[in-house]
Amino acid sequence: MGESVTAFAPASIGNVGVGFDMLGLALDGVGDHVIARRKDQPGISVSEVLGLDGAPHPYLSKDPEHNTASIAVKALWNDYGDDHGVDLRIHKGVPLQSGMGSSAASAVAATFAVNQLLGTPLPTPNLLPYALAGEQYASGGLHADNVAPSLLGGMIYCPKVLLPETVRMPVPKGVSAVLIHPELQVNTAHARRKLAKAYSMEQWLEQQAYFGGFLAACAASDLELIRKTLKDVIVEPQRASAVSCFAAVKDAAVRGGALGCSLSGSGPSIFALTESGKAGNLATAMEQACRSLGIDCQSWVSSLDAPGAHLEA
Ligand code: HSE
Repeated sequence: MGESVTAFAPASIGNVGVGFDMLGLALDGVGDHVIARRKDQPGISVSEVLGLDGAPHPYLSKDPEHNTASIAVKALWNDYGDDHGVDLRIHKGVPLQSGMGSSAASAVAATFAVNQLLGTPLPTPNLLPYALAGEQYASGGLHADNVAPSLLGGMIYCPKVLLPETVRMPVPKGVSAVLIHPELQVNTAHARRKLAKAYSMEQWLEQQAYFGGFLAACAASDLELIRKTLKDVIVEPQRASAVSCFAAVKDAAVRGGALGCSLSGSGPSIFALTESGKAGNLATAMEQACRSLGIDCQSWVSSLDAPGAHLEA
């Protein structure tokens, strides 16, 4: 058996409502594990993909050409690896097609683990393009709003025009995220293809105002400004109908005092930001609204400065 390392990478909230494809937030306590082991044979293999129940995953491929984790690792190994190869074992903790950055978490955890097997590991931010290569295969687009927070933790500004550069954004004090995952699935690649290609100047100006205002509000820990600006007037209206419980869950969040609520990535997960002291009750209210429609769900409460990818013993 060759040298082996295990890495964890968290799930994440893509878009954070205001910043389509360019703002993402890491989540606490939910993510994927990847065990990477050096092997004598050249090439990248995937010997195991386990689902949330610990059983072999029914859908994710072990074919290294069709797995986000191995595609990411292959790109890294081509640039920095040696004549030996690497085997990956992927233990999913993030549900598939959940809007929680599932493919990004696998790509990031795998890249982070394999980086440690290199003679001289790269600085963590330099792994971004490799993890993105895997994510791009899964989601059908080049957007870093799941990969960047999963790799780096916290809230990251990562527009395509700046990549591979990203910017860590200040997060407000005393605010937590609540994320609810209804037992539904949305395929991100399909959801992206359905989006309108053109928007009015009026819509663009309104969304820009919310985005800029939200970032300023976070930096100043101005909760009332977060409440005024955590809004998506362009993408959420186009995607909400694909998540049958969205309106009811958002309504429950707003009634429960949330600072704002929107889809996480392309959904079906729904997130809210709230004063930290209200987060537990808010999660319960959002879950109840979802279950009242006969849809089972799970929720998490997270700080806004959750750690990014890291090694595990
Ligand atoms: N920004 C992407 C989208 C994230 O909304 O399509 C998907 O998780």
